[in-house]
Amino acid sequence: MNTNATLRPRPLGATGPSVFPLGLGCMGMSALYGESDRTESIATIHAALDAGVTLLDTGDFYGMGHNELLINDALRTAPAALRAQALTSVKFGALRTVEGGFTGYDGRPDAVKNFAAYSLQRLGTDHIDVYRIARVDPDVPVEETVGAIAELVEAGHVRHIGLSEVGAATLRRAAAVAPIADLQIEYSLISRGIEDEILPTARELGIGVTAYGVLSRGLISGHFTHDRELAPGDFRGMSPRFQGDNLHHNLNLVEQLRTVAERKGASVAQIAIAWVLSRGEDVVPLVGARRRDRLAEALGALEVSLEAADLLAIEAAVPVGAAAGERYPQAQMAHLDSER
Ligand SMILES: NC(=O)c1ccc[n+]([C@@H]2O[C@H](COP(=O)([O-])OP(=O)(O)OC[C@H]3O[C@@H](n4cnc5c(N)ncnc54)[C@H](OP(=O)(O)O)[C@@H]3O)[C@@H](O)[C@H]2O)c1
Repeated sequence: MNTNATLRPRPLGATGPSVFPLGLGCMGMSALYGESDRTESIATIHAALDAGVTLLDTGDFYGMGHNELLINDALRTAPAALRAQALTSVKFGALRTVEGGFTGYDGRPDAVKNFAAYSLQRLGTDHIDVYRIARVDPDVPVEETVGAIAELVEAGHVRHIGLSEVGAATLRRAAAVAPIADLQIEYSLISRGIEDEILPTARELGIGVTAYGVLSRGLISGHFTHDRELAPGDFRGMSPRFQGDNLHHNLNLVEQLRTVAERKGASVAQIAIAWVLSRGEDVVPLVGARRRDRLAEALGALEVSLEAADLLAIEAAVPVGAAAGERYPQAQMAHLDSER
């Protein structure tokens, strides 16, 4: 793979927009990874846009609206040309408690339109570029949820329909209702579950992939350590991959990867992101940088050229299925249509 190919914009499926090859995931600026700094978060969004990033990913439930309001602030204070290039990718449907708990998902058509009305207001925009339910509501056929988004498209409030963490059968059902731009799903060197059935089905249907967790929430970034203290509520405090022996095993994999990275003159995070970039031009990694230095490191992955021998070395360091622990706690695994 050469650098030019890596830098080319990537289409979000057959019907979605072309986007910069890395998207910025904004979740950690509001939730799930402990304290974040508002000024630095906004500076990171501005720096990403300045570097050419177009896709900004969020969810209405990230900090219960906090993340959308943050993006609103960042876009309002960005130069007009940068504001104009930004594309918003918004997830909805998660039901929260005041304490921050997750109590389920709501994909009823009226709820979809209600969620969208609030998101448009919080984002301060007249449309959302890609809109998707975070997890399929088990009580509502996906056709109804997607049908409601299709009506929002018809009305001009949404440009494209996406999906999140769904399996191949649901991809087919959704695609039969309306064009689907992309599937957002976890995909990294240590989460390769989509390769057997979901990715081939997405490709067959002309649906792109926005890959999240490409650094496995920091675990395979090369910066995570055994003694890192996590704030209460940090997702990683509950994630099986970050616990005890699992963490020990997984960080040993990272050290194997570091050897490959050092030979390439790149950082571990850059190798992990470059590997996802190498999966195909229909895969767009979302990086969860919360600071400008992390963003700069992530963008450096676009300069890393991986040859066949590098890919072999990377996959020898971190073989398929090598991670210890599931990617979510058990209760959250149960919400993943993609894991059925
Ligand atoms: N559809 C879904 O179900 C779903 C689920 C989760 C996330 N997402 C989306 O995907 C986005 C990315 O996911 P993620 O946050 O799990 O991704 P990630 O990129 O795997 O992990 C992000 C974490 O990695 C650490 N990190 C270390 N070096 C980094 C570097 N150079 N660049 C970026 N991060 C670095 C940071 O932790 P520290 O800041 O603590 O060092 C950061 O919080 C989210 O923001 C969200 O928009 C979607």
